[in-house]
Amino acid sequence: MKTFKKSIVAIIALMATINTGYSQNTSDIKKLSDDERMEWWRDAKFGMFLHWGAYSIIGGERGDQIAGGGAEWAMDKLDYTIEEYEKFPRMFDPQLFNADDWVKMAKDAGMKYIVITTKHHDGFSLWDSKVSDYDIMDTAPFKRDIIKELAEASRKQGIKFGVYHSIVDWHHPQAQGNLFPNYNAGQKDQTVINPEFPEYYKNYLKPQVKELLTNYGDIDVVWFDGDWIADYTTEMGKEMYSFIRELQPNTIINNRVDKGRKGMEGMDMEGNFAGDFGTPEQEIPATGIDEDWESCMTMNGTWGYKPDDTKWKTSEDLIQKLVDIVSKGGNFLLNIGPDGYGRFPAQSIRRLKAMGEWTDANGEAIYGATASPYDMPEWGRYTKKDGIVYAHVFDWPEDGQLVIHKNIKLKKATLLVASETEISTNKIANGTVLKLPKEAPDQSVSVIRLELR
Ligand code: GLC
Repeated sequence: MKTFKKSIVAIIALMATINTGYSQNTSDIKKLSDDERMEWWRDAKFGMFLHWGAYSIIGGERGDQIAGGGAEWAMDKLDYTIEEYEKFPRMFDPQLFNADDWVKMAKDAGMKYIVITTKHHDGFSLWDSKVSDYDIMDTAPFKRDIIKELAEASRKQGIKFGVYHSIVDWHHPQAQGNLFPNYNAGQKDQTVINPEFPEYYKNYLKPQVKELLTNYGDIDVVWFDGDWIADYTTEMGKEMYSFIRELQPNTIINNRVDKGRKGMEGMDMEGNFAGDFGTPEQEIPATGIDEDWESCMTMNGTWGYKPDDTKWKTSEDLIQKLVDIVSKGGNFLLNIGPDGYGRFPAQSIRRLKAMGEWTDANGEAIYGATASPYDMPEWGRYTKKDGIVYAHVFDWPEDGQLVIHKNIKLKKATLLVASETEISTNKIANGTVLKLPKEAPDQSVSVIRLELR
């Protein structure tokens, strides 16, 4: 990934001298170095993923059928033909949608950025797209540019704004559309190539991406998906990456823009691939990885709204997952699937609130922190920042004795939430014993601040 980035910079510099045709004045924008560009993202740690679209009306149900897995795949999983499915965009009228409220809920939860589905695999676009009639303005009664409202609300409230965009398009005739006009079981071979796909890429996918990157101010993250289809090639991916860099030199692009991703594990295989960060999906790497990565995850088991899915992770589990990820050097992109009216599920709101309370009290040990330099302890995780190591205790010791790593040269230990009282310590052969109060200060994760000598 890294070598590719260097050559890309050279190519962009060259292109900038021969091609100044794009509407945005990119020449005025200072091009940051790779590290400078990634800085806010590396510090941010926690973001909100939003899966929202016409499928949010369906809720993964059709008659007595319930879609397995993610309900955003309703068109495919519930065997809707293109024609049958089109009625959902035509009734998409989420009157309860309020961009300010959504952004505020993300912000209050301690999230520093949001990434919203601008177009999922079903092909329906949530913004005012000039190259498509299958969008919020032309097809839906709602006729409000959702991407514009969210971009503006994010900027106003000081949150970074990102766009998810699927390369897959089950609706467009030059993508998957005319291969599967009756999009039903048995016709879903994703290895079948549409010979007209390069036309879709050139005249639809790229122009749509360009709209998103020129009409909504700074786009902080571009989050591609659908990289697996055989129609899409690594040449297209690399070209797309440079195309975006030229439009917005400092945006951050995930690795699904190219074809290097190793399945759900999400990091790139060996080779030259475009993309600024890896995208583990529904999983957290076992150990730290010395590259940029972000785990995306659902609160229950679905990305799109699905009332039948009641397998909610507990708030405690989600907080521990955030800590686990930060201790391994990654970011956490946690999903919300709002319903067809524009509401967040109550279960999600409760979890966001719990995470907000926790990050509010313990954010010092999360934002801007780096991976643990020590082996993972049995009782929890470590993070590190500016000469301080944070011990995140998942399992509070019943006897009040916590052993910390022998390489931690301790000056002073305190509870993060009660920094006045110094914790007494005792050196032993394999580390230092901290003498903790009987009760854990936090039920999910209690943080101990370890000042180093
Ligand atoms: C998968 C699914 C998709 C979801 C994405 C999020 O690739 O196909 O529905 O949007 O994961 O990472």
